[in-house]
Parts: sequence; C-alpha cells; structure tokens
Amino acid sequence: MSSEIVNSINNIALNNDEDFVDPWNVVSKSDTGVDYDKLIQRFGSSKIDQELLDRFEKITGKKVHHLLRRGVFFSHRDMHTILNLYESGKPFYLYTGRGPSSKSMHLGHLIPFTLCKWLQDVFNVPLVIQLTDDEKTLWKDIKLEEAHEMAYENAKDIIAVGFDPKKTFIFSNLDYIGQCPDFYRNMIRIQKCVTFNQVKGIFGFDDSTVIGKIAFPAAQATPALSTSFPHIFNGKKFPCLIPCAIDQDPYFRMTRDVCPRLGFQKPALLHSKFFPALQGAQTKMSASDPNSTIFCCDTPKQLKNKINKHAFSGGQVTVEEHRKIGGNCDVDISYQYLRFFLEDDDKLEQIRKDYTSGALLTGELKKILIDTITPIIVQHQERRAEVTDEVLKEYMMPRKLEFDYK
Ligand code: TRP
Repeated sequence: MSSEIVNSINNIALNNDEDFVDPWNVVSKSDTGVDYDKLIQRFGSSKIDQELLDRFEKITGKKVHHLLRRGVFFSHRDMHTILNLYESGKPFYLYTGRGPSSKSMHLGHLIPFTLCKWLQDVFNVPLVIQLTDDEKTLWKDIKLEEAHEMAYENAKDIIAVGFDPKKTFIFSNLDYIGQCPDFYRNMIRIQKCVTFNQVKGIFGFDDSTVIGKIAFPAAQATPALSTSFPHIFNGKKFPCLIPCAIDQDPYFRMTRDVCPRLGFQKPALLHSKFFPALQGAQTKMSASDPNSTIFCCDTPKQLKNKINKHAFSGGQVTVEEHRKIGGNCDVDISYQYLRFFLEDDDKLEQIRKDYTSGALLTGELKKILIDTITPIIVQHQERRAEVTDEVLKEYMMPRKLEFDYK
C-alpha cells in the first residue's frame, strides 16, 4: 500500500482533541477553526509557500489571485510539476466539481470555482466540472430525480462565475456516465485497482454501507484521466490540476495512488481552507443550516440581516471596552469573510489594524462586509438570470472545446 493511502488511514484514527475532517464532516474544537498546518502534516501534502507563489508570478507574469496570496488556498500536491508544464508550453487541464445537495449554492461553494476561473484565464486551459448528483442521492435523503435537478440548478450558479463556454465542459454524472463509454471504462479500471479494505480505511465505510457509496469514489477519480473525455482530448493522455476544498483530498489520494498503475500521471492539487459558518470558524458553512449560511440567491435584505444577526463578532461587549481593548480579527467572522471577498490588500490591512486597535467597531466592520458582498451577490444573480436552458445546454453538451489535441 502506498504512503498516500496509509496517510488516509491515519486520518481516521484521530485523538478526540483533534480536528476532524473528511468529505462529509468538518469539526474543530478551536474558535480559530481547523489547524491547517496539522492537516498538511496528517495528509502529507505540501504548504503553498512564498517560493511557490513567487514562481507562479514569475512564470505567468500575473500577480497571484488574492485567494492564493492570503492563504485561502494553503496546500498543494505537485503544483511545481504543473508550473513546469506551463513553462515548457505543454498542455494540461483543470478539473473540479460540486455535489448538488441544495438548489442554491452558498458563498463557500463559489471559492474553488472563483479560483478555477482565474486559473483558466491565466493558463488558457480546458476545465471539466463534475456534478456528482449520483453521490448526493446515495449519501443524502434526496431522490435521484431531485439530485439530478439540483445539478442543473447548480450548473447555473457555476456558469454565473463567468467560465468561457469554449473552454468549459460541465456534466452531471447521472447523464454523462451513461453517454460516454470511455468514462465508464476508466471508472471500471479504477474500481479494479481499489479494494473494499482500502476504501474502508480512506472513507470510513463499514459492512452496512450501501454498495453505491463503496463504488462512488471511482466516479470522482475518473475525470482525472483525460481519456474520459474523448470529445475534448481526442483519446490523448494529459495531466490535470484539481482545485478543491481540503475535505476532498481523500478522493484524490486514492486517485493518485491508482493513476500510475493505469499509465496516467498523478493529478496535481490545490487545496482550500473551509469557508467558515456565520456562527464561527469551528465548522464550515452548510447548505442545510440557513442561519449559518449566505446563499447566492439571498436578497440584499436577507444578507444584511444574516450578517448583523448571526456573524460571530471578535469585538468586545461594550463600546468602551472595545475602544480600550480592541477586537480579535482571528475569530471575527466579518473580518474573516473580508479576506475572501475584499480584493484590495491595503484596505484590508487598514481594516485589520483599525479593528484590532478598537478604532473600528463591530457594527462598522459588519457594514463594510455588507457593502462588499452585496454587489458581488447582486451581480452574481444578474449573471445567473441570463443562464437560459439554451446556455445550460451549450456548457453541458459533450463537444470539442477550443483546443486541438492531434
Ligand atoms: N464530492 C464533491 C462535493 O461533494 C464534488 C466533486 C466531484 C468535486 N468532483 C470534484 C469537488 C473535484 C472538487 C474537485 O462537493
């Protein structure tokens, strides 16, 4: 068994006082949230350090995206390999995905897609987006038809991020796996490489787990094999880069273990931190708890109310005390959200200083957050409204993209 798989097993056997992270649960005991450095150690990935960011800028000639600059994407596997490819003009592609478990996506769901859009623009590469409606009907109390419908609703939110239709293929597993023999064949090749014992260790399955769940990890691994998309890659093998939240890493540790055995390069990864719930960083935003979550479809009024009522404050109880002692940005959710959404580094730094010193009050900080997010959400909703069934079809039809692979 490879070291990556052994690391996964270690992940399950945690002490009670440690953070718990797997594809379905994120729980931290600390009010500053998950200890991400520990996670890097436990998962055996690499930290995104200044050297990597400098190299990124040198090779692409672009200032790196603020989600990278600020360490929201904090961990990677083999990113240097991808930069080497780009430097020598060799092709690769991007792969990401979304498990449709609610009709509307929330702010946290947009993060990997926002970075993907930037990466697609900077590198000029194809992007494949997997909607795992199969996964969600297997794991949640959701009928297959409902999961399938949610996949299409979510696709509209994803398209609203601004992906180029000539470079982007979005697919529902429930549709595409039956349409594309090459995808199904790769899935079976992957299933042939992984035992029940291994997925038990990685995902915590047991004897009463339904067999659909046991087989599913192969479906999430398959898009990392370029030959699963013959209409895009013409049957050729190309490496891929997968931006995702760190809780998806177990799937890709498995994928990386299998790839060399099937004659493919291991996929590279960029891992993001979680987008914290309004109530605090102990857990991530969850679409099933509307009070913890800002949805992409919330009205400006709902957004304002949620932030004012529920956003956990790192400020002091009274104004006098706050002026004297100052606020704690590390636990303050409004400040933490600004790190995701306020692009201007200088402004952000000024806010941090002012809140820490007590010059800026919690109500004022919340107002800055509301004023920052409102236009982002409103514009998102406008772009989403333009996604007609025709437009959906355009992105989701298996077709050749703008790239030639002879
Ligand atoms: N399992 C993911 C979820 O529940 C969806 C997903 C499929 C994904 N393929 C992916 C996420 C690749 C990131 C990268 O949301």
